[in-house]
Amino acid sequence: MVYSSPFHLVALTLTLTSLFFQGSRAQLSSTFYGSTCSNVSSIVRNIVQQAQSSDARIVASLTRLHFHDCFVNGCDGSVLLDDSSSIQSEKNAVPNNNSARGFDVIDNIKTAVENACPGVVSCADILALAAEASVNLGGGPSWTVLLGRRDGTTASLSGANNLPSPRDSLSNLQKKFSDLGLDDTDLVALSGAHTFGRAKCSFFSDRLNNFNGNGSPDPSLNSTYLATLQQSCPQGGNGDTLNNLDPSSPDTFDKNYYTNLQSNQGLLQSDQELFSTSGASTVSIVNSFASSQTTFFQSFASSMINMGNISPLTGTSGEIRSNCRKVNGS
Ligand code: HEM
Ligand SMILES: *[C@@H]1O[C@H](CO)[C@@H](O)[C@H](O)[C@H]1NC(C)=O
Ligand SMILES: *[C@@H]1O[C@H](CO)[C@@H](O)[C@H](O)[C@H]1NC(C)=O
Ligand SMILES: *[C@@H]1O[C@H](CO)[C@@H](O)[C@H](O)[C@H]1NC(C)=O
Repeated sequence: MVYSSPFHLVALTLTLTSLFFQGSRAQLSSTFYGSTCSNVSSIVRNIVQQAQSSDARIVASLTRLHFHDCFVNGCDGSVLLDDSSSIQSEKNAVPNNNSARGFDVIDNIKTAVENACPGVVSCADILALAAEASVNLGGGPSWTVLLGRRDGTTASLSGANNLPSPRDSLSNLQKKFSDLGLDDTDLVALSGAHTFGRAKCSFFSDRLNNFNGNGSPDPSLNSTYLATLQQSCPQGGNGDTLNNLDPSSPDTFDKNYYTNLQSNQGLLQSDQELFSTSGASTVSIVNSFASSQTTFFQSFASSMINMGNISPLTGTSGEIRSNCRKVNGS
């Protein structure tokens, strides 16, 4: 027997205990690239800023990519992998197909980062850095991004198809977040990312005419806003037509998302439910963010750190991809 002696049992216990803590606690650090790629954040930020100058929406798209990465197999860059013989790309999942964007900008960032510091910075960390730069360049808060994630070698199409849906009930949204260690404050704060960017008619058009199959619009939708949306998304029209998630300030990261919810102008069902579900624990959080942008910004930053801590690969797990779209050697 290999583990028969008391000494071996103690050693085994210590090994299992340390594996347990490594597996359950994020091991990320703000200084992870301090000696290997100290200017990585400014490289990322410069490229995001260049992209923003020709496409105001890109900062929203890049912020969303980090969310879609972290919610599927943890923050491991899985969302960036293309189809291959061994990978069923998450890009083909319903929430991403013709919707997730910014992959070309991530490629440009990766190229610039590889030129400065070859083989060192993961694609998963690039997504986290690009999200922070994007929020800040959109007018939102800045925070210290924790780093040291490594890239996964697998993708999960089924996981991506199970991302929070705009038609999920509030209790389903709460469950999908709490399963990943995120609470109501995280749910409400992170949903505030819908203060910028666009959504296709197909993600909310059921609210406009035939909500829950009952032949009438979602009763929680402001009637003036409803009329505007019916113009933009006529029945039988093009489901890919884009609409501003925050009509009051479409490209600015501010607290208007929450004041919109208070006037029943949330675009997605999943947005409006946070405020309109009677008795829900999320209502008072919406009100508190609507009344203080400072409170929202602080909560958003800390919830982004919480989301960025979802099951990272660290140490010698995973790899540093040389091309964000491919597993190394494939
Ligand atoms: C709470 C659950 C969530 C649901 C159900 C949801 C759903 C959606 C949907 C349906 C769209 C429109 C996509 C399109 O039409 O192409 C969208 C866009 C967006 N989402 Fe979410 N989302 C959620 C949470 C989040 C979180 C946590 C973030 C980031 C922290 C985020 C950031 C964004 C951004 C920035 C956009 C605009 C993207 C663009 O214009 O390219 N969302 N979301
Ligand atoms: C993705 O969208 C394209 C264009 O609308 C469509 O042809 C394709 O079938 C979709 N893919 C999946 C997997 O749904
Ligand atoms: C970042 O630092 C590396 C050396 O560490 C240098 O080669 C590169 O030019 C710097 N890039 C920027 C954008 O400052
Ligand atoms: C509907 O939206 C308008 C702004 O377009 C606002 O003045 C009004 O109070 C809203 N109505 C409700 C019931 O929230």
